[in-house]
Amino acid sequence: SLPELEYRASELHLEGVSLSRLAALQGTPLYVYSQGAMLRALAGYRNPLVRRKHLVCYAVKANSTLAVLQVLAREGCGFDIVSVGELERVLTAGGLPSNVVFAGVGKRRDEVERAIEVGIKCFNVESEGELMVLSEIAANLRKRAPVSLRLNPEVSPNTHRYISTGGKENKFGVPLATAAGLYRLAARLPAIDVVGINFHIGSQITEVAPYLRALDCTLQLLDVLEAEGLRISHIDVGGGWGIRHLDEPLSEPRHLLSAILDRLDARGYGDRELVIEPGRSLVGNAGVLVTQILSLKPTEGKNFCIVDAGMNDLVRPAMYNAYMHIVECVKPLDCLASRRNWDVVGPVCESGDWLGLDRSLMPVAGEHLVILSAGAYGMSMASNYNTRPRPAEIMVNSTNAILIRRRETIDDLLKNEMLLTSPSALSS
Ligand code: LLP
Repeated sequence: SLPELEYRASELHLEGVSLSRLAALQGTPLYVYSQGAMLRALAGYRNPLVRRKHLVCYAVKANSTLAVLQVLAREGCGFDIVSVGELERVLTAGGLPSNVVFAGVGKRRDEVERAIEVGIKCFNVESEGELMVLSEIAANLRKRAPVSLRLNPEVSPNTHRYISTGGKENKFGVPLATAAGLYRLAARLPAIDVVGINFHIGSQITEVAPYLRALDCTLQLLDVLEAEGLRISHIDVGGGWGIRHLDEPLSEPRHLLSAILDRLDARGYGDRELVIEPGRSLVGNAGVLVTQILSLKPTEGKNFCIVDAGMNDLVRPAMYNAYMHIVECVKPLDCLASRRNWDVVGPVCESGDWLGLDRSLMPVAGEHLVILSAGAYGMSMASNYNTRPRPAEIMVNSTNAILIRRRETIDDLLKNEMLLTSPSALSS
């Protein structure tokens, strides 16, 4: 489903670059991203909004690699961050602090201080306790903190339990019942500027309806607040729009946007700035993970295809039971051998370490497989479990293939550790 991805002379290419050639040059496991696909995805959000006051804030957590942020920052994209680490990444990549919104249910004082110091657009606040700390820190710094309250609209989209965030049972957001009171309190705090209202209901959402339900709750509250004279300048509808992994029915973000804009217009809020925080849908389809087949292990119960990428490189299958489509890097000749079903598994010592189950493939040891739509929550969730260095990453565009992160080395993994004999005891 990605125009940038195609077989040429039976070899899989991304934006015109052969993936087996990149694997030969850089080794595996290897993440490869298409810059063109990311830009196209961004345009899919921005084009429907051209005549509106809006800000697309890319959710950095989906893929926080500097060059990925840079591609988006150059287009003037905003960013949704959840830590000071993500803030520093955005600044290093050339993103403007004034286009940054800071989300997250737990923000440390040092993170808040840094964000106030660089002048972010908005703190998305999730509780009274957080609001009071923010107010105190801003007052101490003799600055003002711009604030939006994250509502918990009690809407549960149809998605995995672990990535559903807008329900009553979730830790996220301010309950509707107390939100108006908290806004009144915020409006009275001298170091707080009330600027927005926001929600985020989950991830990999494929229906418009839950967004509209959450938006309706939000607008009802806005009616109350504005009747009292409080003016809210932006409405942030969060992220969460899904991507296609195989051939699932799924509409483009512009359908979501047009439904949201219609609702805002109908309710008299069409003049407000619309903020949206997509992560997965900007980068997910643009990336692939290339892995080498280490060995084939047909057994009585199952056929195992053992590859050199594991759950530490791509945790989504193990963690969410997520389906990621897998293809051969070099298209096999179907007439030569009959296909079989294979479990594509990694080298990590866990039975949950699989990338795909029961896949019809014709794997050959030493050749490569490609896991598609791995650009979001792939590298950004990678770990060093089993002391496995994290993969290298490459950005391809119509003219170049650029190494944007070198492969980690074992030395990288050991460099922060001390043996007991070293002289760094904290107390005697
Ligand atoms: N805004 C907020 C406040 C969020 O918490 C998130 C994601 C987003 C925006 C972006 O959502 P997206 O457009 O990417 O769906 N690791 C999981 C997904 C976790 C999403 C967490 N929050 C996965 O691999 O499916």
